[in-house]
Amino acid sequence: MVRSQGWYGGEGRDPFIHRAWMRRGVPDHAFDGRPQIAIANTASDLTPCNMHFNEVADYVKQGVWEAGGVPVNLPVVSLGETVVKPTAMLWRNMAAMAIEEMLRANPIDAVVLLGGCDKTIPALLMGAASVDLPAVVLPGGPMLNGYFRGERMGCGTGVWQLSEEVRAGTLPAAEFEASDKKMIRSKGHCNTMGTASTMGLLAEALGMTIPGVAGTPAADSRLLEAAHASGRLAVELATEDRRISQVITKESFHNAIVALAAIGGSTNAVVHLLAIAGRLGIDLTLEDFDRIGGKVPLLVNLQPAGRYLMEDLFRAGGFLAVLDQLVDLLDPLARTVTGKPLTEYLGGHGVWDRDVISPRSEPLQDDAGIAVLRGNLAPRGAIIKPAAATPELLVHTGRAVVFDSIEDAHARLDDPELDIDADSVLILRGCGPKGYPGMPEVANMPLPQKLLKQGVRDVVRICDGRMSGTAYGTVVLHVAPEAAAGGPLALVEDGDLILLDVPNRRLELLVDEAELANRRTAQRALDGFAQADRGWQKLYIDHVQGADTGADLDFLVGSSGSEVTRESH
Ligand code: FES
Ligand code: MG
Repeated sequence: MVRSQGWYGGEGRDPFIHRAWMRRGVPDHAFDGRPQIAIANTASDLTPCNMHFNEVADYVKQGVWEAGGVPVNLPVVSLGETVVKPTAMLWRNMAAMAIEEMLRANPIDAVVLLGGCDKTIPALLMGAASVDLPAVVLPGGPMLNGYFRGERMGCGTGVWQLSEEVRAGTLPAAEFEASDKKMIRSKGHCNTMGTASTMGLLAEALGMTIPGVAGTPAADSRLLEAAHASGRLAVELATEDRRISQVITKESFHNAIVALAAIGGSTNAVVHLLAIAGRLGIDLTLEDFDRIGGKVPLLVNLQPAGRYLMEDLFRAGGFLAVLDQLVDLLDPLARTVTGKPLTEYLGGHGVWDRDVISPRSEPLQDDAGIAVLRGNLAPRGAIIKPAAATPELLVHTGRAVVFDSIEDAHARLDDPELDIDADSVLILRGCGPKGYPGMPEVANMPLPQKLLKQGVRDVVRICDGRMSGTAYGTVVLHVAPEAAAGGPLALVEDGDLILLDVPNRRLELLVDEAELANRRTAQRALDGFAQADRGWQKLYIDHVQGADTGADLDFLVGSSGSEVTRESH
């Protein structure tokens, strides 16, 4: 018997109430024991990347009806990366918590998760995992390619590049202002290999989509076909009671980490995958990313590290064509929502443009995975994406220039008096989950104008915050513990020598231990670190965990299952 019969089944007052209010044109047989399929819908006019989901949901509904289920649209908390202040990440856990509670509280047997913009797929997966209902993800897909001056202009990446050009005086500000419609010209999420593209593809690598669906552009009719198929599949999932915990296992994360390296995916995926694993009780650690992803070659030539955009990846054969070349690195035991292993969908996928998807024999880069650094500056770890960094800076020692907040950095970076040169190491602290709060994407702080004018295009930057998945540079991220939680980043002073050694995975503050002990005793509260007296921010600051374990709230880790034992009347 399906779960929803606990509401609708049988006779008497309570089932009567549950059916009566839900009727409104729905036939009698809707409540005869057939699966009720929720469409967890992040459509919102304030999440423009997900705006097309109401149309997509209509196609999911058709698939559900056709397969003998009953679809119900469930609008859920939605987060638009670009407009929400101070950072959408502040509410990823809140969205996940709300989604979890609504899935559990309602008569739902399986759920189709519609996500696109950065935080939406992670929040949907985290929430659904903590209820552990049968679920399938349908990623909303990327925008079509943008073009500026005849060249591809990627969402995010193009903005970072052109705004630096304006700062360097090589592009008129008016031309920059006019580039927006050329960059963003259709429905869908960012078309670079940013967090949205990464998490859509990784949802597939985790086994949570119908294989071959992720990466379908939002404007492509095949997305609607996939919506229909996902609706049909959700009915099957409910009937067979195939739950998330049966699909996502440690082996699935292995495949996701391999994929993350091969696509040159966003560093944000590290935090999101750790958080999803935490909900499922799967022991995933930062070291797994280095151990599993470290030796994986980069095969996908997409911005920000490369040249092309998501529409090109789809045209070149898509995500399965990438995975096809890595089959020996993938775990054959990891299953998908269809019940079959992911690797069963591989073999014989053509690559139609070898400039977009490199053959395994000629990778864009060897050993492309995210590197996990440790040392006295990051006892619980920090990460760097070597593929987006300047190779010459991967082993570097330089003098620290310290900023206590992003506002401090903005105020002083362009000061001609600032004591800084191309070898300096920029430290930005107070940007971790607790410190900001929410862990904003500010780590790739702009370069001082002074250096830009000298032709410097990258310097080592170190931060306890995150970086947009569409950004690039030699940026050490997610330093843990964060400064606001007593991490050693708080002890750094201007002029201290810092050693970055990516090949040996080290990040050291070259100051002797006695001096550090002195500084620790004298440690002052850093300006700009957030306080909150009430509301979500208070709950968040009091309970958020470090980036090294996924920045989830301590009391949200794990699952409570789907059972509800008490009645409402
Ligand atoms: Fe929504 Fe980039 S802003 S995906
Ligand atoms: Mg982003």
